[in-house]
Amino acid sequence: MVRIHDALYMAALAYGSTSGAAQQDETINQPAFDQQLDEIPPELDEPGGAGSAHSIASDEVADVVNQQSDLKLVVISNRIAPFDPNKPQTGGLAAALEPVVERCGAVWVGSSEECGDGTERPLRLEPTGTGYVSRLDLPAADHPGYYRGFSNSTLWPALHSLPDRMSVSEDDYDSYQRTNGFIARAVFDARDRDVFWVHDYHLLPLGAQLNELGIERPAGFFLHTPWPAPDMVERVPNHLELMKSTLKYDLLGFQTNRDMNNYSAYLRTHFGLETRDGIVTTERGQTRLKKFPIGIDPRQFADYLAADLSPAEQKKVSSLLQNFEGSKFAIGVDRLDYTKGIDKRVEGFNQLLRTEPHSISLLQIAPSSRADVEQYQKYKEDVESAINRVNAEHGTDRWRPIHYKNDSFSQAALARLYRAAHVGVVTPLRDGMNLVAKEYVAAQDPKDPGVLVLSKFAGAAEDFNENEALLVDPNHPEEIAAAISKASHMPLEERVTRWRSMMDKIESYTIHDWAADYVSELDKSRVTVPADQFHHLGLGWTNEAQMPLYQNYATALTAFNDVDPRDTALKEAAYANVESSSEALATPLMHTQNRLWVLPAPDSFA
Ligand code: UDP
Ligand code: G6P
Repeated sequence: MVRIHDALYMAALAYGSTSGAAQQDETINQPAFDQQLDEIPPELDEPGGAGSAHSIASDEVADVVNQQSDLKLVVISNRIAPFDPNKPQTGGLAAALEPVVERCGAVWVGSSEECGDGTERPLRLEPTGTGYVSRLDLPAADHPGYYRGFSNSTLWPALHSLPDRMSVSEDDYDSYQRTNGFIARAVFDARDRDVFWVHDYHLLPLGAQLNELGIERPAGFFLHTPWPAPDMVERVPNHLELMKSTLKYDLLGFQTNRDMNNYSAYLRTHFGLETRDGIVTTERGQTRLKKFPIGIDPRQFADYLAADLSPAEQKKVSSLLQNFEGSKFAIGVDRLDYTKGIDKRVEGFNQLLRTEPHSISLLQIAPSSRADVEQYQKYKEDVESAINRVNAEHGTDRWRPIHYKNDSFSQAALARLYRAAHVGVVTPLRDGMNLVAKEYVAAQDPKDPGVLVLSKFAGAAEDFNENEALLVDPNHPEEIAAAISKASHMPLEERVTRWRSMMDKIESYTIHDWAADYVSELDKSRVTVPADQFHHLGLGWTNEAQMPLYQNYATALTAFNDVDPRDTALKEAAYANVESSSEALATPLMHTQNRLWVLPAPDSFA
């Protein structure tokens, strides 16, 4: 009902009333944004075009986010991918979204990694493949509180159930909210695109902020990290407000069932809200919860293995691999993050070498991450001293047990290293999914694959079972040691069977399936009214996202007639102007008609 009010109110404003906050929103840059889209053609069929990471064959375009070829998507996240195949990815979110945005024509808005003075500017678009990116200079004054503070010192450890790593500050929360507000206002230029897809914990309240600005297109959120049990969320300042704001999204996507169940448990405990068939109903409407386990692009990994590296990377890779000629090695690839369990892995390796000296080496690639956050600085020191201890205890002049690279590699270079390694060791204390686990599998030689040792607390362990990966408790170094030993002695036949089964899963739900699945689910929130029924329904119904609340025309009409009597004047004004309104709204109506859900025409309704 509230949304009918809002829609009527907006409609009345559009007919001359100058009162109300919505009026100022009409100063935005929608025409400028549209003009940019018209003027900057996408880079389709321009292999190697500036900013395009991968050449795109036109037949590939069709198979991506394919059910929604005409759907205009806005993707929003803090980090944006580099769109350069020679550069490393910083984390799974960017790695996952880069191939999606390149191929589905989305506009991807995120941080430029530079800060600005907070001045709001029109969205500037750069083409990339068939999509566009828009990099925002986030306000400098709020950046430490938003990124280093609330996102990465409060939420990140809470989401990974590591309360001892948390620090909290009310000021950080305010900066976090203000930065979300800044991003919402920037995105307002794109308000007429079809759906908004927000990513990760930096932007939990963004959907609510978009809503407050009057953007009522379907908005979905996908969490790349785990979602913890309610007692962890309770440690986050203003968790009630934050959690309420998440219910402004139409769709919440999680990596695993465990994450989704934990989220529902919070709603039940704190708001008395039950999730039924994956749907939570609030005064606003429905929020659907669903699991979308993120994948990779296995074809891209095959291409990486076939393509040449840049001379500099080739040199880096060759000199690393020389260390392992004629001997076995395991590989770990992780941002230097305390959630990744690198210290426990090193201890596991230590224990293994005590029982099986010189049996296997470890290549640990660990690029620095969030280096201005204190807990990360401390973790780097802890990991490096643990590695030095193991190398001192087990190393000789001619053999080093652990080769540690505090450096990043392109995915093409990683693909070669994965391929050469006999064991992939992925042992995070907790992880949303862990794409490295899937990439390791995808890069293996089908005739002689390596073995994956996987933490049972990585999201990937909900995809891969104990007949596929060797599942371990990452808190127990002795389990890690035993699993690496088992992996390095595993007979070829068992390796092939385990690998084939994991590879089938990776191929049957790629990153493109994941994106298409999410977006088509989000599109179901967009329920629209064909133009010929518009008159019967009135202006209130131009808000597409509210429609799933009503089962049929009769309940819809009842709801419309139930508008608060104090708003009768608004309602009458809307009716009086219905014809000219229909003309004014012809374009959006044309655009949305014949969509998923059609109200039965009044005549046919018995
Ligand atoms: N990655 C990379 N270069 C590196 C290290 C990692 O490109 O030097 C990529 C890696 O290929 C993977 C992503 O970063 O796609 C890491 O994602 P994951 O889900 O494993 O962990 P996250 O960093 O997101 O926690
Ligand atoms: C994880 C998070 C991402 C983040 C990435 C790298 O994957 O889920 O949202 O982008 O880590 O972290 P950074 O802070 O460097 O963006």
